[in-house]
Amino acid sequence: MHKSEKSAKRTITRRTALGGIALAACTAAVPILVRARSTPLNYNFSGPASDRKLDLKHPVRCTPGTSAQSEGPFYTPRTPRRTVLREPDTGGEQLVLEGLVLTPDCQPVAGAVIDIWHCDESGRYDNAGFRYRGHQFTDSAGAYRFETIRPGHYTGRTPHIHVKVQGMKTRLLTTQLYFPDLRDSNSRDWLQRDELLMHLSRNGETWFGRYDFMLDISWLPDNSRQFFVTLPVIDYFI
Ligand SMILES: [Fe+2]
Repeated sequence: MHKSEKSAKRTITRRTALGGIALAACTAAVPILVRARSTPLNYNFSGPASDRKLDLKHPVRCTPGTSAQSEGPFYTPRTPRRTVLREPDTGGEQLVLEGLVLTPDCQPVAGAVIDIWHCDESGRYDNAGFRYRGHQFTDSAGAYRFETIRPGHYTGRTPHIHVKVQGMKTRLLTTQLYFPDLRDSNSRDWLQRDELLMHLSRNGETWFGRYDFMLDISWLPDNSRQFFVTLPVIDYFI
């Protein structure tokens, strides 16, 4: 496990415990919001990207909202805007990650920002630069597509891809995507959730992962990009 990851896990344990104590002590008198740490996106909404012509079919049934997960300790803001994250010197297996960003009633969220980051094929994050980090905007159909590699393992985690997604009129979703062909390592990772498994296929040397995000807009007031809840907040960090 990376040194910083170990220290982050220790922090979690301590902070989670303290948060639990504070929550138990205070809920009778003051409402408290306990949430995973989630850095806001810092990009200007510039409208939909040019049509990617992916022609992806909508899911048969949309869901109330994609599950959120913590951002972890390795998020770097202000990533380059790009669709190709794959590096020329990579030894990793090629992965195309694509899908739709939708509202819970299956309407496309055009021009949504989608920002992803993951470790390299050896399980290392680039925390000094932007290897395997990038953001883009969905097209008018709500479609996105990244060309990257399958991330490797690092101690304590099954391979995963971190994602932040936000539409102009939606709240920010921070979550992680997983690979359905890694059942053993998935089952050993307490963060992994089956509802965050991508649909995976392979064509020759290239893997194709499909995941559709459902952004919950139900609690946002009209004409508002952000809605801040004025409550005491305890952030924990995993
Ligand atoms: Fe991670």
